[in-house]
Amino acid sequence: MTEVTTYESFNKKIGEGKFAYIQSFGCQMNERDSESLAGMLEDLGYSPTDTQEKADIIILNTCCVRETAESKVFGLLGRLRKRKVAKPDLILAVCGCMPQQEAAAKRIRHSFPFVDLIFGTHNIHELPRMIHQVQENHEAILEVWATEKGIEENIPVKRKDKLKAWVTIMYGCNNFCTYCIVPYVRGRERSRQPEEIVNEIKALVQEGFKEVTLLGQNVNSYGKEFADHYRFADLLLALDKIAGLERIRFMTSHPRDFDQRLIDVIASTKKVCEHYHLPAQAGSNRILKLMNRGYTREHYLELIRKIKEAVPNASITADLMVGFPGETEADFEDTLDLVKLVRYDSAFTFVYNLRTGTPAAKMEQVPEEVKSERIQRLIEMQGQISLENNQQEEGRMLEVLVEGETKTNPDLLAGRTRTNKLVVFRGDIKLIGKLVQVKITKGRPNLLEGELVPNGAIV
Ligand code: SAM
Ligand code: SF4
Ligand code: F3S
Repeated sequence: MTEVTTYESFNKKIGEGKFAYIQSFGCQMNERDSESLAGMLEDLGYSPTDTQEKADIIILNTCCVRETAESKVFGLLGRLRKRKVAKPDLILAVCGCMPQQEAAAKRIRHSFPFVDLIFGTHNIHELPRMIHQVQENHEAILEVWATEKGIEENIPVKRKDKLKAWVTIMYGCNNFCTYCIVPYVRGRERSRQPEEIVNEIKALVQEGFKEVTLLGQNVNSYGKEFADHYRFADLLLALDKIAGLERIRFMTSHPRDFDQRLIDVIASTKKVCEHYHLPAQAGSNRILKLMNRGYTREHYLELIRKIKEAVPNASITADLMVGFPGETEADFEDTLDLVKLVRYDSAFTFVYNLRTGTPAAKMEQVPEEVKSERIQRLIEMQGQISLENNQQEEGRMLEVLVEGETKTNPDLLAGRTRTNKLVVFRGDIKLIGKLVQVKITKGRPNLLEGELVPNGAIV
């Protein structure tokens, strides 16, 4: 059983009159963790700031899934050295997935000795105590727990958005895909109790939130450790009943564990959106096996068929990877072929990147130039399909949750369809936060243009 502990406020306003700057790297789990860091800082009296110059504490919440993510942090740390010299009281903290790897933690410690605070993914709730210690003792701290201890509930949270909320339903990953570092830095799977999740979401609705995205590295494993067989599908059924909640999304679901019951539930519930992010990674059975993904291309395609049968307007997106060790031209063409068959609405495409300590690091690597050539071909093919799929939306009336003005033109509003497509259209800012009907006039590669349907506001 997962041990659940309850966060207790530090009760000392050690940040009163001070400013905090947080920068997040990596996935939504990290974004959500940063909202907890922001919540704890607010509880200490800190005010948030968007500028490093103004900050009394700078926290980098890091990612190590690919080398590029790590390089960004090392580059940033190099530049922060000057800031620390100019303002010696500034507290510099590095946390998250990078320092959770011993070698990276040591490298940060040795190459950037001016960093005051280094901690990992398992002890973020200790932030207030650690800041206090740095303030009192003026000594750097490195505290990374080797393993997870359970789940800490009730950590204060300061969310970035007011309409859409990330809600972590489980932590960790047990899958050990052979290329991936995440299970090593996030620990084993732990699911939050359903009541905790339901109560959190009810409170969010009270605050005016309309949409939640349930987060986990593999949400389909939710509840596997519970004695009463309460599973992800049961959680969706419970959340669907929450009055005032309009949309439920989830990510990421693993194609291996997406069973028939879950398909039936997503088809029957009103609020679960018709968008399923199902990372395929590769289209070749030989590569999928080497990746330890636990499914075949046939299983994957059958799953997509079943989902589309149950939810005819389902939008499917994926993560795809090229250049996994040993990937031949024929293997890669199997991935292209899968893309042609599924016709994803969009896809995150990645070049395989060696992660020390994972099994794939010891396999025979594909040359960089081959990987670059393949990713270009994949991006090109997917781009064309995304455009064609978006053009097929022309003339349709779609429900859009209005999120705000567009960044470039304040006369245009932007929002998302239930299928998670970005829609821009002309409209009054009073519509922000509302569900409206928009008639799609043009499908672009990455968005849809539309016209507000008169009197089309739904909620
Ligand atoms: N748990 C999710 C799943 O299995 O679909 C994925 C989480 S991971 C943070 C996001 C994506 O990063 C993966 O789906 C994979 O495509 C990509 N990824 C993970 N490790 C990688 C590596 N070593 N090189 C390149 N891409 C990687
Ligand atoms: Fe990484 Fe695989 Fe776990 Fe996703 S399921 S986080 S790709 S090990
Ligand atoms: Fe990166 Fe950690 Fe997420 S390694 S992708 S931030 S779980």
